[in-house]
Amino acid sequence: MTILAIDQGTTSSRGIVFSDDLEVQGSAQQEFEQHFPQSGWVEHDPKDIWTTTAATARGAIEQAGAPRIDAIGITNQRETTLIWDRDNGRPIHNAIVWQDRRTAEACARMKADGQEAQVTDVTGLLLDPYFSATKIGWILDQVEGAREKAEAGKLAFGTVDSYLIWRLTGGRSHVTDATNAARTMLYDIRKGEWSEEMCRMFGVPMALLPEVRDSAAEFGVTRADLFGREVPILGVAGDQQAATVGQACFAPGMMKSTYGTGCFALLNTGADAVRSEHRLLTTIAYQLDGKPSYALEGSIFIAGAVVQWLRDGLKIIREASETAELSRNADDGQEIVMVPAFTGLGAPYWRPEARGGVFGLTRNTGPAEFARAALRSVGFQTRDLLQAMRADWPDAGDAVLRVDGGMTASEPAMQFLADILGAPVDRPENTETTAQGAAWLAGYKAGICPGPEEYARAWRLDRRFEPQMDEAARHRHITGWTRAVEAVIAMTG
Ligand code: G3P
Repeated sequence: MTILAIDQGTTSSRGIVFSDDLEVQGSAQQEFEQHFPQSGWVEHDPKDIWTTTAATARGAIEQAGAPRIDAIGITNQRETTLIWDRDNGRPIHNAIVWQDRRTAEACARMKADGQEAQVTDVTGLLLDPYFSATKIGWILDQVEGAREKAEAGKLAFGTVDSYLIWRLTGGRSHVTDATNAARTMLYDIRKGEWSEEMCRMFGVPMALLPEVRDSAAEFGVTRADLFGREVPILGVAGDQQAATVGQACFAPGMMKSTYGTGCFALLNTGADAVRSEHRLLTTIAYQLDGKPSYALEGSIFIAGAVVQWLRDGLKIIREASETAELSRNADDGQEIVMVPAFTGLGAPYWRPEARGGVFGLTRNTGPAEFARAALRSVGFQTRDLLQAMRADWPDAGDAVLRVDGGMTASEPAMQFLADILGAPVDRPENTETTAQGAAWLAGYKAGICPGPEEYARAWRLDRRFEPQMDEAARHRHITGWTRAVEAVIAMTG
C-alpha cells in the first residue's frame, strides 16, 4: 500500500510518496513565483499552485517506481485565500497569501471599534491581516460583481487545501478540514461550525464556504485521469498542524516548533481550548473521529528567513549551511543582539508596523557576529513563545520541545535554543514531519497506518540538546533581548 502526501507550501510545492510503514519512497519539489504587486502585498498565481502540485505529485510517484497510489494526504500553507467560480472553476483573483498585509487598516479599524474580543472568543484568533476573513472581504469588494455572485452561491472560497481538492476531484468536492477552517477567522472552534456572527462581521456570505470535515476523513476521490485511477483523499491538515501530528504530539502538554521561513510553535492542550492571556492563538491541532484536539500556537514570521537575508541581502554567506561555521568564529566579547522584525513582530507582540534592529555594534563587529546574532534571534523568539505558553497553561511546565524544519540542522542554533530556554530540545530522526503527518492522517483513515499511540511509539530521537549555559549568562542574554525588543517597538512610535 502506498500513500501520496502533497505538501503545498508558501514558496514551493512538494510530492512525497510513503510506504505503509511511512518510509519515503520518492519525492519531488518545485519552487514557484511570488508576486508582490505593492509593498506589503503577497500573491500566488493559482495556476502555479495547481501545476506545481500536479507536477511534483507525478514526479514523486515516478521516482518511487510508479507504484499504485492508495490514498492521498494533503498539507498546506494556511490562511492563504482563494475564491473561484463554481461553474468553470476559474479563480476570480490571485491567491492572497498569509503574509499579505493589505487588510491591516481594516483590521486596525475593527480593533479600534472594540471588535477583537468577540473575534477571539469565537475563533481563538486575533484581529490581524494574517487570517483569511479580511482577505475574502477585500476580494469581494475589489473584483467587480463578486459580492453579488457570492451571495447568489456562484462562487466558492477555499484555503489551499480546499482549492487543491476541488481541482483534484474535478470540482466534485468543496471541503476543508477543521485545522484549516480554524485559520479563517470565520470558524467557531468550540462549536465546530462556521460562525454566522463572524461571517456577518466580516461581510462574508456563507454560501462561499466549504464543508468542514475531520482531519482524517473522506474528502473525495481524484479524477481518474490524474493518477490512472480514482484515488481517495483521506487526510488534510494545515502544515503546522500536520507537523504536530508528524511529531506525534498527541498528548496534552506536548509541543513542537517548526523552523521554515518563519517559526510556528504549537502546544497540545487536548480537549481544552485554552484562551490565551498572552496573545497566543487558540487553534485546532487536529480533529479525529469528530473530536477536536486544541493547541496554543505562537507564530513568528522570520526564522529561517533571517539566514536568507544574510545570504541574499547582506551577502555574507553563499549557503545557509555556512551560518553555523561562521557563527562559531564570532567574538565572545561582543554581544550583538538582532531583532529580525522585517515584517513586524508576530506573537506575542503582534506589532505589524515594527521593523528590525541590531544592537551592540562595535568597530570589530563583522559577518561572524551578525551570523551568530541571527541564529540567536530564533532562540530568543522561541523562548518568548514558550514563556507565553507556560503563563497561559501552567501544565506546559515540563514538556520537552520537539523541533523540526531546515534550521534544526544547525547545531549552534539548536544548542543556543536549549541554553536560552534552560530546557532540553529534542530533534527527531525523521525530518519529514509535515508530510509524514499528512500521510499518517490519510493512512489512518484508510486503515493502513496504526492509531496515534502506536504511531507515537515509532517517533525516534536523533539528538537531545541539553542546556549548558549558566544562569547568570542566560539572564544577561535575556535582558539584552528584552531591551532590544523594547527599543524596536519604541522606534515604531
Ligand atoms: O501560517 C502560515 C504557515 O502555514 C506557512 O507555512 O511552511 O508554507 O511557510 P510555510
